[in-house]
Amino acid sequence: MSTAHTPDTQPRTGVTPFDVQALREQFPILHREVHGKPLVYLDNAATAQKPQSVIDAVNRCYTQSNANVHRGLHALSEEATEAYEGARDKVRQLINAPALEEVIYVRGTTEGMNLVAQAYGRSTLKPGDEVLITHMEHHSGIVPWQLACEQTGATLRVIPINDRGELILEEFEKLLSERTKIVSCVHVSNALGTVNPVEHIVAKAKEAGAVTVIDGAQAVPHMPVDVQRIGCDFYTFSAHKAYGPTGIGALWGRTELLESMPPYQGGGEMIDRVTFEGTTYNELPYKFEAGTPNVAGGIGFGAAVDFLRGLDYEGMMAHEKALLDYGTEVLGEVEGLRLIGTAEHKAGVLSFVLEDIHPHDLGTLIDRYGIAIRTGHHCAQPVMDRYGVPATARASFGLYNTREEIDALVEGLAKVRKIFG
Ligand code: ALA
Repeated sequence: MSTAHTPDTQPRTGVTPFDVQALREQFPILHREVHGKPLVYLDNAATAQKPQSVIDAVNRCYTQSNANVHRGLHALSEEATEAYEGARDKVRQLINAPALEEVIYVRGTTEGMNLVAQAYGRSTLKPGDEVLITHMEHHSGIVPWQLACEQTGATLRVIPINDRGELILEEFEKLLSERTKIVSCVHVSNALGTVNPVEHIVAKAKEAGAVTVIDGAQAVPHMPVDVQRIGCDFYTFSAHKAYGPTGIGALWGRTELLESMPPYQGGGEMIDRVTFEGTTYNELPYKFEAGTPNVAGGIGFGAAVDFLRGLDYEGMMAHEKALLDYGTEVLGEVEGLRLIGTAEHKAGVLSFVLEDIHPHDLGTLIDRYGIAIRTGHHCAQPVMDRYGVPATARASFGLYNTREEIDALVEGLAKVRKIFG
């Protein structure tokens, strides 16, 4: 695979001004009803809905070009390979990765984190080394590091957060030392919405000589991400939160690190030559892509990237910020409602508890009005512990949400409160 890719210099913003109603037309599911009410989908941090172009790309793959990739010389295999590898380059452009072979397909962010923790962390960490994570990590930013630390004798350290849900950067700097080998941080918190200053975190970590890993699952759908500007060593995200299919995502890593790492899984595709005496491995990125890949998912991922890159990003971000501001204001007026996560820099996530109504009851009841929110610990139990709650209700916005849908949420909450007297 060629290494001769220059950084993407194309403007990432589309020419069509952001038009939420026109965009909604592209998402067939938004037109369905739930319990006889129009669907109000406010669970985008869990998974986003898919535009017709993504659905069509997956459909086209299975109806016209379905074949295994890289292996066959027949027409279908060539078509599938071209579409699947073409999508990899689209992903590269989306995050401005410098080289195509640095973009590894994974099942999603969770696999990306596990791959780095096992293939990099496990092979380099030693007793006395430290891995620094934050108190607002998703479980996929905690447990893989716990495993790697258990396996190597390294120690996990945690950067605390303040009451608003922001990292305490002075504490971060105090925790950094020559023992810090890895700093792993979520770009945007799924439970709090906090947007972390990743460029600053990476710069400080690098001064200490640490390798940096960014979980971008909640960032990529909402803001331009440029891995070269962030300066990190690894960045991973899922397609399905970014309007693409489930079961596919990307891990970007620097060539020199990826080259130095042992494979994550063994099997077909990741090998060069296998004998019973030993095996040599394939070149990047295939060294980390054992087995038949998610071909249709990769192709759908490419269509999702086309969709994202066709958007007016400035317009999208302004729209989502307006939704967040409006939602914060009107939810703040709901009696008995406490917002969890009030960082100055936030993405479109509103986590809350409502009096002593258990979030699960709230989620179940509000579903009767066609409103989909997520309730639970959001795979971030330490965040729940930090705020002394077992769970929260969470409304999370996508680019197609509207003020009217936030009004519907507020009305729904009022009805739920009435039921509980
Ligand atoms: N991590 C996903 C969420 O926040 C599942 O909902």
